[in-house]
Amino acid sequence: MMMRMGSVMRKVVCLLAWLSVGQVSGSYLPQDMNRTLQDLLQHYKISKSDIYDGKQVFPKEELKGKMESQMLFMGGVLEAYEKLIVHMLKELPTPSPLSATSGDKADTSGPSTAKPLAAGNTRSNLNKVLEKIRDLKLHSYKEQVKILHELQKLKHIEMDNIKVQGKALWELPWIYEKANSLADNVMRRRRRRRQTRTKSRLGA
Ligand SMILES: *[C@@H]1O[C@H](CO)[C@@H](O)[C@H](O)[C@H]1NC(C)=O
Repeated sequence: MMMRMGSVMRKVVCLLAWLSVGQVSGSYLPQDMNRTLQDLLQHYKISKSDIYDGKQVFPKEELKGKMESQMLFMGGVLEAYEKLIVHMLKELPTPSPLSATSGDKADTSGPSTAKPLAAGNTRSNLNKVLEKIRDLKLHSYKEQVKILHELQKLKHIEMDNIKVQGKALWELPWIYEKANSLADNVMRRRRRRRQTRTKSRLGA
């Protein structure tokens, strides 16, 4: 279990790094965040064969469809990153009070003293990344995250509760109407767009 978790994390950090050097020109990736990620990758090392094993932690197929769907999926991805990084922070060894007070030149008697220092660096780097992700989520994905939370609640409906069952049936006429009219609207909008395209092509 630990091993698997570790390998997933390595993949995620790898993906973060990949995103940082990836196609999207990097214009949205601040230099300092890139540096932080490169630093973290020194700690969460992954092999080339792991990077290119064709299995992404976050499938990119979902990022090809409609803009609204992409935003929703991305909201979920950001949520997952937040959870994952919080988990990674918890897994770091806690700094011992001794090495925290004695500074960089703690005694070099064993590898055990070097670890908390390295972990401290990793911790602050992870915290930096976490902050970036939370900022992005809060500023640009508020609506999506709200929907995702509502979806999570749907999963926990009390299926065995007879009152819930009755009320759900009671609400169904409105829901059914709404679901159909939504789908219908979307289809009509699509058809209208197609027609306009054809017309403008004929006019040209
Ligand atoms: C991020 O850092 C790496 C390593 O220094 C560099 O090769 C890459 O070009 C940087 N990416 C961006 C988007 O700045």
